[in-house]
Amino acid sequence: MENNKKIMDNIISLAKQRGFIFQSSEIYGGLKSAYDYGPLGVELKRNIMNEWWRSMVHEREDVIGLDASIIMHPKVWEASGHLAGFADPLVDCLISKERFRADKAPIPKIGDDINITCSDKGQAKDYQAAIEKRFNIKLNRNGKVLEGLKVIEKNKVGFFEKKESDASKTFDFPGYISPTFNSPFLSDEKQFNLMFRSQIGSVDAIGEITNFVNENKHLNDNEMKEGIEKIVKDSAVYLRPETAQAMFVQFLNCQQTMSMKIPFGIAQMGKSFRNEITTEHYIFRSCEFEQMEMEFFVEPGTQKDWLEYWRDKRLKWWKSFSNYPDNFIYREHEKDELAHYADACYDIEYKYPWGFDELEGVASRTDYDLKKHSEFSGAKLSYFDQQKENPETGKMGYRYTPYVIEPAAGATRGLLVYLIDAYHEETVKDAKGNDSKRVVMKLHPKLAPFKVAVLPLIKKDGLPEIARKLVKSFMKEGINAKYDEQHAIGKRYRRHDEVGTPYCLTIDGESKNDNCVTIRDRDTMKQERVSIKKVVELVKKKLRQ
Ligand code: GAP
Repeated sequence: MENNKKIMDNIISLAKQRGFIFQSSEIYGGLKSAYDYGPLGVELKRNIMNEWWRSMVHEREDVIGLDASIIMHPKVWEASGHLAGFADPLVDCLISKERFRADKAPIPKIGDDINITCSDKGQAKDYQAAIEKRFNIKLNRNGKVLEGLKVIEKNKVGFFEKKESDASKTFDFPGYISPTFNSPFLSDEKQFNLMFRSQIGSVDAIGEITNFVNENKHLNDNEMKEGIEKIVKDSAVYLRPETAQAMFVQFLNCQQTMSMKIPFGIAQMGKSFRNEITTEHYIFRSCEFEQMEMEFFVEPGTQKDWLEYWRDKRLKWWKSFSNYPDNFIYREHEKDELAHYADACYDIEYKYPWGFDELEGVASRTDYDLKKHSEFSGAKLSYFDQQKENPETGKMGYRYTPYVIEPAAGATRGLLVYLIDAYHEETVKDAKGNDSKRVVMKLHPKLAPFKVAVLPLIKKDGLPEIARKLVKSFMKEGINAKYDEQHAIGKRYRRHDEVGTPYCLTIDGESKNDNCVTIRDRDTMKQERVSIKKVVELVKKKLRQ
């Protein structure tokens, strides 16, 4: 444990010293859980995101891209459920994960039966098992309804075995139940301000609020709060907490303009913002982060196969840039972990220094989102397949709301994963033959910020000119090369080891005579003499491997 903390501390220190990640607004004392990606961090992040885009969009015919506004119509967040609870206390059902407003929840009377009503028999079986595991009572299942609970006091429910008149177990509950399932198994009330709120438009909300307060001094606290909320709500906009919703909202535009046939996906990457209650583990959970998400629209009934397809594809992608592929696994969500709109979900997890934890979620989100946005917007977010027989009428032509498989990854979290994966400490012999510590970031060459460093051995005798010319040749080929003449050559090698530069090219006195450079491999430290003429092609070939 101590060792793991040390590894994280070393990585955080290296990330700062070498220009990967800085504390945001550091000179003002920093901002909690906000980070800036420095000159090398931005390269690493872009390389990860570009590789994702290449594999998800450019290398596929069935996925198209989108770059939507961060600020969207507030109704989007009402439909998606994110807006609920902004001003009102919210509660989670511990079984179904349904989140709802406490002040609008149904209140059963003393003596009422509480029948937990599920959407189908399968769900009822899952919830029955989850309740048994968590609360040690076996409710009686009658089709999709779970029976055996009754309100016995204002804040107490009892569990009654079949035909028994005395409760064998009692539970505290807040006096209300969840609106969809009638569950009394609820979390404490919380004010969830997941989304960052701002105001749009030129009207000054503060001015309006001041007028309102001045004119309504007779109102009680609740009435005053409600009035102010209304003023704020009229011009309120939100920073998106996920990139996903834009793909649902733009489903029809994307599908129709690009004549996409199901199955197909819409991909987007970019910033998301969450007012996280707990920010932790450096950039693992922060308030501003980047996501890489894809919504893959499929025919209902095919979702299980597509979920497994995307789970395997995404896991393979993460492993392909890693030194330790076995540190990436997938974990299926237990039924009681599933969001109420998901029928299955996998987390792709990574073995962080603190243990396995989430890197990406691959969820089967059913038709929930498209249906919700259809309901709230009035737009018909469905798909018509002319070639398909309608299973109900037997006639050709089938209109349905697609189901969705969503691989949703964190780009900044991915960056942390690859920093951890790359960080190596080795003992090597120095020039005098003594043991010394070498820190090397074994970043995959495709992700490394610099692909090659060109180092004139000395700053004179025409060596810098040869080196600069070579750097230009690399840049012309789109290869990010770095000219570096500061400090002794050994120190420069170490510096480039620490930022993960896969190849160092040294120009020495001989280079002028033999037109050759020494190429040094970051991982093996082996050196080879190669012709200057051929070295760009050689590095290009190595980077393609
Ligand atoms: N659209 C689904 C969605 O957003 P999520 O599991 O909340 O699902 C997907 O987020 C991924 O985004 C996570 O697996 C994680 O990699 C990343 N992520 C989520 N919240 C984050 C945060 N506060 N900081 C950094 N990355 C985060």
